[in-house]
Amino acid sequence: MPVTLVIGSQWGDEGKGKIIDYLAKDSDFVVRFHGGNNAGHTIINKYGKFALHLIPGGIFNLNTKAVIANGVVIDLAVLLSEIELVEKAGIKVKGRLFISPRCQLIMPYHKLLEQVYEEAKKGVNTPQPTGRGIGPVYADKVTYNGITLGDLLDRKSFKEKLSVQVLIKNKTLKPFGKKVNKNVVEKDFFSMRRKILPFISDTFTIINSAIDKKQNILLEGAQGTFLDNDWGIYPFVTASNAVSGGVNAGAGIAPNKINKVIGVAKAYTTRVGFGPVPTEQKNGIGNKLREIGGEYGATTGRPRRCGWLDLEMLRFAVKINGFTEICITKLDVLDNFEKIKVCVRYNLNSKRISYEQCSTKDFDRVKPVYKTYKGWQKSIKEAKNFKDLPKEAQIYLRDIEKMLGVKITYVSTGVKRNEIIKI
Ligand code: GDP
Ligand code: IMO
Ligand code: MG
Repeated sequence: MPVTLVIGSQWGDEGKGKIIDYLAKDSDFVVRFHGGNNAGHTIINKYGKFALHLIPGGIFNLNTKAVIANGVVIDLAVLLSEIELVEKAGIKVKGRLFISPRCQLIMPYHKLLEQVYEEAKKGVNTPQPTGRGIGPVYADKVTYNGITLGDLLDRKSFKEKLSVQVLIKNKTLKPFGKKVNKNVVEKDFFSMRRKILPFISDTFTIINSAIDKKQNILLEGAQGTFLDNDWGIYPFVTASNAVSGGVNAGAGIAPNKINKVIGVAKAYTTRVGFGPVPTEQKNGIGNKLREIGGEYGATTGRPRRCGWLDLEMLRFAVKINGFTEICITKLDVLDNFEKIKVCVRYNLNSKRISYEQCSTKDFDRVKPVYKTYKGWQKSIKEAKNFKDLPKEAQIYLRDIEKMLGVKITYVSTGVKRNEIIKI
């Protein structure tokens, strides 16, 4: 299928990186279209282990080109060091990575503003952001205060915009004892400018010409549905639209050009940062999932909060994203559980309530209703086909599929590229 969209269907870290790396073998282009280096997409292949924050995962497939489209926010220093890292692994990046001049730049004052907001909020009503300046850079974008990668093409205009922003930002930062030095920022950006110029391209034309030629395009979602700025549990969200609709604005691809939407879901639930997680297990089960699943953030190293799979949320994710299929990851993490639970719905005050009906406060009070499955209690690592999976695992997957009304087409059984079952 020419245009395939991969979307996180939970709170991020579903294993999108691994799936993108696997699917890239059939793709002419892999495209990031939102978020920034708050994302950490782990890829383990013959070149090594990488946690990519900005470069699309398809870069490791040498026949695939990578695009950072306009919706992505860029920390230039992070991007340049990531390019260097990938090149050091023996992968050519120049001529294979195309970056939109419309991308907003994360400036040093964005990271300082994020610190100031966090200090002021003292842990209340904050999702505990990653510290990358994501909220403030998107805020500047929508209030027409952003500086784009394209602005770097014209030194004079860059200087003028930077002057105004530093003036405004330093006034805000001063009472909190923080400031940025305009001359230092300007010097840093001008020293990075030469290195990034060769990558700046008209990504709209590149992507849309490829679509016209019926080439295969893989769209790499970042974060996940429940971190979406509109549809997540606000304010415990990120600043971009992580649902499938983000593609139209974020990459310049018309909605009717999307052929497949693959929802990536872990076989259980994790979240990094604050906010309600109805199926969280603050007990031995949660700890076991974290340890076996290696649930520590790829970007910040923070421990992820763990719990059972939440089908109430997944049902919403199916609807809002229009998933045409689902990929279940990390099924192997459940190998050693005697019993496995799945939340099939929420009750509030003994009445059923759906995800979309809940207010932010309701999520702290809803009671997940669980269905319990018998665990398979053996390793699934060697399974290459669905029928190789233990009967109990087959029942678990078929039941999820039935309750969601969408086919499961891939099951990931380990960290490596080939540890996957195509159904
Ligand atoms: P992403 O942000 O969605 O790309 O996911 P992350 O890379 O942040 O986190 C997923 C983690 O799970 C990484 O450490 C992956 O190496 C790992 N992983 C992905 N798929 C599987 C799987 O099927 N089984 C196991 N055990 N680990 C997996
Ligand atoms: P990937 O693409 C998991 C979370 C942060 C925080 C909230 C807001 O690897 O799945 P931000 O820095 O975006 O302002 O933080 O969102 N968060 C993620 N959690 N995976 C991610 O990306 C995330 N990106 C942001 O922990 O709660
Ligand atoms: Mg991640």
